[in-house]
Amino acid sequence: MNVEVCDGIDWVGHVDWSIRDFHGYQTDRGSSYNAYLVRDEKVALIDAVKAPYAGELLDNIKLLVDLDKVDYVVCNHAEPDHSGGLPAVMRECVNAILLCNEKCKKALSQHFDTSMWKFQVVSDGETLSLGNKTLSFMDTPLVHWPESMFTFIPEDKILFSMDAFGQHYATAGRFDDQEPLEVIMAEAKTYFANIVMLYSKPIQRALDRTKDHDIEIIAPSHGIIWRSHIATILKAYQEWVQLKPQPKVLVIYDTMWKSTELMAEAIVDGVIDSGADVRMFNVRANNMTVMATDILDASAVAFGSPTLNMTLMPQMAAILTYLTGLKPAGKDSFAFGSYGWSSGGTKAVEEYLVKMKMNVVREPINAQFVPTPDVIAECRAAGADLGRRALDKMVDSE
Ligand code: FEO
Repeated sequence: MNVEVCDGIDWVGHVDWSIRDFHGYQTDRGSSYNAYLVRDEKVALIDAVKAPYAGELLDNIKLLVDLDKVDYVVCNHAEPDHSGGLPAVMRECVNAILLCNEKCKKALSQHFDTSMWKFQVVSDGETLSLGNKTLSFMDTPLVHWPESMFTFIPEDKILFSMDAFGQHYATAGRFDDQEPLEVIMAEAKTYFANIVMLYSKPIQRALDRTKDHDIEIIAPSHGIIWRSHIATILKAYQEWVQLKPQPKVLVIYDTMWKSTELMAEAIVDGVIDSGADVRMFNVRANNMTVMATDILDASAVAFGSPTLNMTLMPQMAAILTYLTGLKPAGKDSFAFGSYGWSSGGTKAVEEYLVKMKMNVVREPINAQFVPTPDVIAECRAAGADLGRRALDKMVDSE
């Protein structure tokens, strides 16, 4: 169902209530693929939807204008959740010219047969008048792909920010004042941590550029549209891009015969002794999306794995591999775990920590078969140390 965003601009996208796995990201609240139709003397579609929903997008557009009246299609981002519908759009909107930057044109040609598409390549800072409204293009490389860009309409003070400021959140309301803000912010944080955490520096550059613009509406390509809480989401992004830590320690572990779990519990007790906040995640009981989100603003993380066949447990390898890609660098960390006759598990975990550029604060803690009282005491002391370091960071940043 189309929704007016402001005079002459309508949301014409698709709400995906059912998606629960977005290339590995567990989307418990679904998602949406936001597309926007700008009607002026010229008509422009901004972004498309996933391929299966192209027909719905075209039907939505037809409720507002005939398809042959669409003059331009703006592609801010070539990832298929937004570009998948473009082949149908470019086939049916027979007069449309596709506006995108050079990198995006290349990426689209690598995804689709674009030989019949009419392109107009736009550059960073270029503007194009639709009549009373102006499209102003801003390259934002690596937010989320190299070709990504924002489109701004200064007359309406609306920023089309594609993935940035988005959330995987299916809703009946389209705006930030129609849904609970704490839920929107939680989903925005989950999205940031799982999709763009590793691109924090490019996002910082994009945030810096938005300061030059008077923005009253941020229209991302997923989730709700920001119009009442823009300062809230911009402030949150400023904190998230810095990976600004809270006095919070995570203990993430797998366990085979409960020995590594006993060690994890002792580390948790130690953090509690220190007065810092602590969260404990058994990798078999928690999904990677949730753990990555909590890591975003954690100060420290202890990772535990028993040794299985001289290396770490596979589900611990999965979360560590996922986190290695997201690059939550600089957090205090160490490895711990039990073993039978070879202690390769903690060594393998530590190799991941080094690769992730974590600050490894001590040697791994190992326990043969079952942790002795001395090992439990060592775990508790190591947990307290992580907690104190977390609290000290807060003092240092004040
Ligand atoms: Fe929503 Fe990077 O695509």
